[in-house]
Amino acid sequence: MDLYEYQARDVFEKYGVPVLAGIVADTPEEVRAAAEKIGGVVVVKAQVKTGGRGKAGGVKVAKTPDEAYEAAKAILGLDIKGHVVKRVMVAQGARIAEEFYFSVLLDRANRSYLSLCSVEGGMEIEELAVERPEALARVEVNPLTGIDKAKAVEIARAANFPEDLIEKVSDVFVKLFDVYKGEDATLVEVNPLVRTEEGDIIALDGKVTLDDNASEIRHPEHEALEDKDAADPLEAKAKESGLNYVKLDGEVGIIGNGAGLVMSTLDVVAYAGENHNGVKPANFLDIGGGASAEVMAAGLDVILGDPQVKSVFVNVFGGITACDAVANGIKGALETLGATASKPLVVRLDGNRVDEGRAILAEYAHPLVTLAATMDEGADKAAELANA
Ligand SMILES: Nc1ncnc2c1ncn2[C@@H]1O[C@H](COP(=O)(O)OP(=O)(O)OP(=O)(O)O)[C@@H](O)[C@H]1O
Ligand SMILES: [Mg+2]
Repeated sequence: MDLYEYQARDVFEKYGVPVLAGIVADTPEEVRAAAEKIGGVVVVKAQVKTGGRGKAGGVKVAKTPDEAYEAAKAILGLDIKGHVVKRVMVAQGARIAEEFYFSVLLDRANRSYLSLCSVEGGMEIEELAVERPEALARVEVNPLTGIDKAKAVEIARAANFPEDLIEKVSDVFVKLFDVYKGEDATLVEVNPLVRTEEGDIIALDGKVTLDDNASEIRHPEHEALEDKDAADPLEAKAKESGLNYVKLDGEVGIIGNGAGLVMSTLDVVAYAGENHNGVKPANFLDIGGGASAEVMAAGLDVILGDPQVKSVFVNVFGGITACDAVANGIKGALETLGATASKPLVVRLDGNRVDEGRAILAEYAHPLVTLAATMDEGADKAAELANA
């Protein structure tokens, strides 16, 4: 889960990372009040989970509460790369002398952590990384020892910080790693980390990605950070039923068992769709090992709730859960759903007890169900039905 900047700011504060005052607001009036409360120059900042807010006009300096009010009017409702701004943060204005960049992230390819750091931070960091990669220090961080003071100094030196700043910035790096480790994050990024005219080092922006695998048991408090309004309602419903569902924007609903099989089903359906007016998969849904009637019904219910879905392809390989159990699951699900199940279903079963499974569905002879012998045939049939 990605956090909003204001949430990252709050987490930073909890760990002693230096940040400035920030108040979230949803209307221009609230922004004016927040600017009055903070006093002096403020910066009104769009709260959206995408980068490049500044360049898109989503970050504006305001010298007075009235200016902050006007800035909020311009920013609220703005579309930044498909994210409509519904909330802003009013931040205390900093007198910036220099902008730096710091991040620590999970480096999957090297099975390690990686810190990126530069004395040339700010909004052009993406260009810097491409055009002058040598200006962006890359320092591997051993996950077992993390960023202690010595490592932090090594990072600061690698990024060419001047000697007189090393003590201060390295303290901040250690605290940012405390955030990374303490919250089970996979990314903590600060751009810009600034030196103010007063000589303070402050995190003026923050991006934090939390590891969802750590949320349930290690960090039950992270649930409160979730943006329930922004979540897709179908995804939310699937989550409630404990299903692994991702909404896509095609027309063929997909149900399979095992992430690998579902991924290849998406490919095969997209390929088959090329012969049927370009129809595409409507979702990813892995019902996992068990394919009971309840799980099948919950899965079908979510998929059929998507108005874009025109047909459904159930692609199951019987392993520990045998095909006859899956066939009974489908039968049970159709009975549970009754009239809700209103779209054609193509079912391909293979593997353990496949003959028994097919026999159950053949005998059931539900008017919406078509049996397919192979995955390719099933994908083609489902794509054809979606295009009918
Ligand atoms: N509190 C502040 N006081 C003064 N200037 C600020 C403040 N916050 C941001 N700025 C200025 O605005 C610029 C952009 O802000 P910020 O880094 O938060 O957004 P962004 O980088 O454009 O957005 P994103 O991180 O989404 O790409 C900063 O580089 C900084 O110069
Ligand atoms: Mg930034």
